[in-house]
Amino acid sequence: MQGAHRITAVFDSELCEAAMSRNHLLLYCRPGFESDMAGEIQDKAAEAGVYGYVKTKANSGYVVYITQEDDGARQLMNRLSFDNLIFARQWCAAVPLINDLPQGDRIGPILEAFAEHDLPRCGDLILETADTNEAKELSGFCKKFINPLRQTLRKKGLLTDKPNAKIPRLHCFFLDSSNVYIGTTDTRNSSPWPGGILRLKFPKTAPSRSTLKLEEAFHYFVPADEWDERLAPGMKAVDLGAAPGGWTWQLVNRSMMVTAVDNGPMNKDLMESGQVTHRTEDAFTFKPEKRVDWMVCDIVDKPARSAELMGRWLAHRWCREAIFNLKLPMKQRWMAVQEALEKIEEMCLERDLKVTLKCKQLFHDREEVTVHAIGERIR
Ligand SMILES: C[S@@+](CC[C@H](N)C(=O)[O-])C[C@H]1O[C@@H](n2cnc3c(N)ncnc32)[C@H](O)[C@@H]1O
Repeated sequence: MQGAHRITAVFDSELCEAAMSRNHLLLYCRPGFESDMAGEIQDKAAEAGVYGYVKTKANSGYVVYITQEDDGARQLMNRLSFDNLIFARQWCAAVPLINDLPQGDRIGPILEAFAEHDLPRCGDLILETADTNEAKELSGFCKKFINPLRQTLRKKGLLTDKPNAKIPRLHCFFLDSSNVYIGTTDTRNSSPWPGGILRLKFPKTAPSRSTLKLEEAFHYFVPADEWDERLAPGMKAVDLGAAPGGWTWQLVNRSMMVTAVDNGPMNKDLMESGQVTHRTEDAFTFKPEKRVDWMVCDIVDKPARSAELMGRWLAHRWCREAIFNLKLPMKQRWMAVQEALEKIEEMCLERDLKVTLKCKQLFHDREEVTVHAIGERIR
């Protein structure tokens, strides 16, 4: 594979960890995408030289990659960049499932696991479940359990008093109230949000719920300290497939000037902002008069066709940065994403442009993934 979705970063999170048997790489994903997550991790783990096998259950919202080597999950996390995993919302290097936790003493077996697997002292603790309706019913249980667990771990010196980004974070991922995976992550190479889910409030004046997809993409792909520069007032943007205007709303909200391309009607209030020009044209033939700062696109089409359109925009440098969705087919979605990203990279390379692509299935994405693209000339 080429480019940004290839394994590039090598993390070293030795960080006072003496590791024993964290051989379960636990990956959280959108329920229904377990086989895509499994395909992706198998390919990337083999590429990284960490061998193992994958365990999945349909619609469970997680996948486990069990490595041959004792400490394989942690090694794999050191060799892969979390940002380059498309279907993973969160991950941790876990010990084998702790099952049959007794109702009266769930903490005891967790402490035993710490000792047995020589788990390191951690800087923070998160209790999580899969993103399924069934698992979400455990949220009350998790809320009650976290304080006694935190206090005991602190007393035993296994958890610091204050979250500390320099040492691993402890994840307790409950399948139900008596079965839990416990594992660690490097806070610099994982999602900062519990369950890997960024919860956003729907802005009341936005014309569609889709608005949250672009807002989440801004949070995910543009570091907060770069917003003022990269999402600046007065910037020019094009929104392909804009109607009714949820994505355009986000750009207008950042005080940008937006050309909204769609044959469908745009939201009236948004048009009254004076920041939007509506072009009732086919997005596949539309060309901007001048290079714009941002192009965003939420058109529902085959990934190959969307990739062709995005590749054209990027290869011709019609925009500085882009965020777009690739709608996924019912099957072989991991393969479809790879092909689409490779197509975009090829089209750019043909015009001497190196494009950096980051691709993630965000929380607000459904049968789709979101891509961020930025190009630079090779010579
Ligand atoms: C999922 S909706 C976009 C929703 C929008 N992002 C929002 O937040 O409100 C897809 C839009 O793409 C438009 N569309 C589909 N094919 C198009 C094309 N070839 N040219 C322009 N617009 C197109 C549809 O009319 C539809 O409004």
